[in-house]
Amino acid sequence: MTPSESAASAQDAVTARYDRIARFYDLFDKPMDLMGVRRRRTRLLQLAHGKTLEVGVGTGRNLGLYPAGVELTGIDVSANMLTRAKRVAAADDIDASLELADVHELPYVDGSFDTVTATCVFCSVADPIAGLTEVGRVVRPDGHVLLLEHVRPRNPILGWMADRLAPVVSRLIGPDINRRTEDNVTAAGLEITAVRRWGVWREIIAHPSSESERKHA
Ligand SMILES: C[S@@+](CC[C@H](N)C(=O)[O-])C[C@H]1O[C@@H](n2cnc3c(N)ncnc32)[C@H](O)[C@@H]1O
Repeated sequence: MTPSESAASAQDAVTARYDRIARFYDLFDKPMDLMGVRRRRTRLLQLAHGKTLEVGVGTGRNLGLYPAGVELTGIDVSANMLTRAKRVAAADDIDASLELADVHELPYVDGSFDTVTATCVFCSVADPIAGLTEVGRVVRPDGHVLLLEHVRPRNPILGWMADRLAPVVSRLIGPDINRRTEDNVTAAGLEITAVRRWGVWREIIAHPSSESERKHA
């Protein structure tokens, strides 16, 4: 198997997993929202403006959290998660274009969006650096990327435990709990301009680096 075939098959497994757990997802995730994650989503997404792409929109937990005036597109690779997001948009009368797409290969031209957002997504994407590189491609050179992610604990013992637990957690509820997402953002050529850390949670604001700005110019 070539490296790109093995990345594709890893993503197929992730997609199948979210298709399988879509109907239970909110049940697992709501307690985390109650423990402060919703406050973080709300604070971060208030910074979105203009044409906005939400990657991994899932069951639509963020749809009602954007400021007025945002022109929202949401994508997800799981059809079953997306069906739920569409239901939320219809029920809450939210105007958003919700499309099936993979962040590894976004169907948008370079610099299409003023803002790209993702919450709890790069813990699941099969090749997070490739996905974040695509994010950097579709955001405008003067745009920004807003990420809320949980990451591998910095404490060495907790980090070791997260490495051992990650396969089990991922099989049960989807995400990997041991991703080094701050490093991945930088490795994808984005520049982190602000990060708020709280336990394993990171609120990250990033911009295309000056090198990729030169490429767009
Ligand atoms: C843990 S859920 C988070 C959902 C939502 N963002 C939230 O905060 O509740 C991860 C989501 O990322 C989606 N996802 C995983 N890999 C993806 C990819 N390659 N491209 C787009 N979405 C992806 C999954 O289908 C799932 O809906």
